[in-house]
Amino acid sequence: MSKQRSVIIGSGSYLPPNIVTNEDLAKTVDTTDEWITARTGIKQRHIADKDMLTSDLATEAAKDALKNAGIDASEIDLIVLATATPNRTFPATAITVQANLGITQGCAFDVQAVCSGFVFALTVADNMLQAGNFKKALVIGAETFSRIIDWTDRTTCVLFADGAGAVVLETQQGKGTIADRGILYSHLRSDGRYEDMLYVDGGPSQGKEGFVKMSGNDVFKHAVKKIGASIEQALTDNNLVSDDIDWFVPHQANKRILDAVAKRIKLDESKVVVTVDKHANTSAASIPLALHEAVKDGRVKKGDLILIEALGGGFTWGSMLFRW
Ligand code: ACO
Repeated sequence: MSKQRSVIIGSGSYLPPNIVTNEDLAKTVDTTDEWITARTGIKQRHIADKDMLTSDLATEAAKDALKNAGIDASEIDLIVLATATPNRTFPATAITVQANLGITQGCAFDVQAVCSGFVFALTVADNMLQAGNFKKALVIGAETFSRIIDWTDRTTCVLFADGAGAVVLETQQGKGTIADRGILYSHLRSDGRYEDMLYVDGGPSQGKEGFVKMSGNDVFKHAVKKIGASIEQALTDNNLVSDDIDWFVPHQANKRILDAVAKRIKLDESKVVVTVDKHANTSAASIPLALHEAVKDGRVKKGDLILIEALGGGFTWGSMLFRW
């Protein structure tokens, strides 16, 4: 039976030019390159200049994705932007991106699921395209996470960074089988009982700004367990085994989490796309940034089966399968 599929026809990314190495950080907080590398795999991160907003990073990534998809911005009628660091409380940052791109049709809005934001946004866009109301979508993950970090707190400031990634989706007719190109499966979860393990201690309703607070050990344990279970569900539901996956593009939180998840699902490490060493944790931007890197360098080829996953504050978590 034929089925409409949301196919990714292009990807793009943008990283602010300012690179901060572990050695740079060690000059301002009590840490070392050895500690950060051993605990996280991170060697450097990109940090946006003060006048650079989330919408600026998102717009550049979107332009790159549109160019690589070979389409004009005027063809886009849906923008879903995942971010936990919007320009303003409202309107949505996606609206600013829409205007920056000169798009005056369709609609644009933000999705907030922190580090899982891109998985959630891609699922939302896929469902809206499937419903038949929209034709071509931009899905963007963009963050200026450096703005919600306490740069004197060594337990969090070494982990997070800024950046943006984007993909362009269009509907194409598939056969309704796992061999189709496009988004094949999505598994989303959240459980608010864990909201105090990873959060920002402020926000508009509290009348104060805040910073990221995290119980690192707890997040680590939950991440491996919950992401592992989500992927196992994805494989079982689609009669797949880990060998069927061509590329695993995980949320880039921490190299040790990536290794532990890959080990749990028995996936060869040569199939894991790793950018956390260069980008650190860019929250909702990390998956599309990593995906685009693997597309750019020729690893990801047409027809490849790709698995993505993430866990973020809430907790929110999930996994997706799509064929390039
Ligand atoms: N430099 C040097 N020492 C540090 C630093 C630092 N940057 N940060 C903490 N330490 C110290 C601690 O104070 C502690 O010292 P103590 O033993 O004297 O008290 C010691 O290092 C060990 O601290 P732990 O927190 O136990 O270190 P751990 O091995 O758990 O590593 C880490 C911490 C890296 C945060 C780890 O728990 C982790 O990766 N957790 C996952 C969290 C994560 O990735 N969050 C991202 C957002 S969620 C997501 O995206 C999935």
